[in-house]
Amino acid sequence: MDTVTRPPPSAHLTWHAGSVSRSNREHLHGHRAAVVWFTGLSGSGKSTLAHAVEEYLFHSGHRTYVLDGDNIRHGLCGDLGFSAEDRHENIRRVGELAKLFVDAGTIVLSAFISPIKADRELARQRFAEGDFLEIYCNASVAVCEERDVKGLYRKARQGEIADFTGISSPYEAPPFPDLVIDTAQGAVDDCVLSILRLLALRGVLNAASVASLATFKMERCL
Ligand code: ADX
Repeated sequence: MDTVTRPPPSAHLTWHAGSVSRSNREHLHGHRAAVVWFTGLSGSGKSTLAHAVEEYLFHSGHRTYVLDGDNIRHGLCGDLGFSAEDRHENIRRVGELAKLFVDAGTIVLSAFISPIKADRELARQRFAEGDFLEIYCNASVAVCEERDVKGLYRKARQGEIADFTGISSPYEAPPFPDLVIDTAQGAVDDCVLSILRLLALRGVLNAASVASLATFKMERCL
């Protein structure tokens, strides 16, 4: 057995702060950066809402990017499965990635099941107060299973998918999210408007968008 005590991998690294800062970038973009962290079961509407919010924000002059569970698992997290350890590592990497995007002055819409409260909390702790907005897409297993857009619940029930969230793997609902969206009830436009109002309240939207929220219509940007 190797008994040599190795230094932590980052012991001999130095952080290099560039001359262009996050606030320089935010000033150029005309709005504050933040991460909007959607959490909820598979099929609860996270990706749909993240993309719909991005569509509005993008077409009203914001710098945006969606980080989506299925997409990120094609590349950056392609080596990870769905054990508790792998999900922990998935959320750790995504938290770091979101942090880079926020430093780049971007509004990040992240859509991951992120089922474990402690893992979400670790991600939140990587951000300054107010930079991380947690949105709980609240839809029960029964509702998501009824939708079963990807056919995964059926496969999980038939034993073809192990560790499936809500069936054979836990989901811990956030006790104090910044916003709860009941995706079984509201139309997509109404959900998007609630999220935009939250972003306005937290000072993330650009000035023109705050002024036009009263007459919000999703079609405007399509
Ligand atoms: S997380 O738990 O680590 O946050 P993530 O959001 O990246 O999960 O990926 C979830 C997506 O992977 C689901 O929307 C679904 O399409 C797919 N998936 C495949 N296997 C599973 C599984 N065992 N549990 C949950 N989702 C799964």
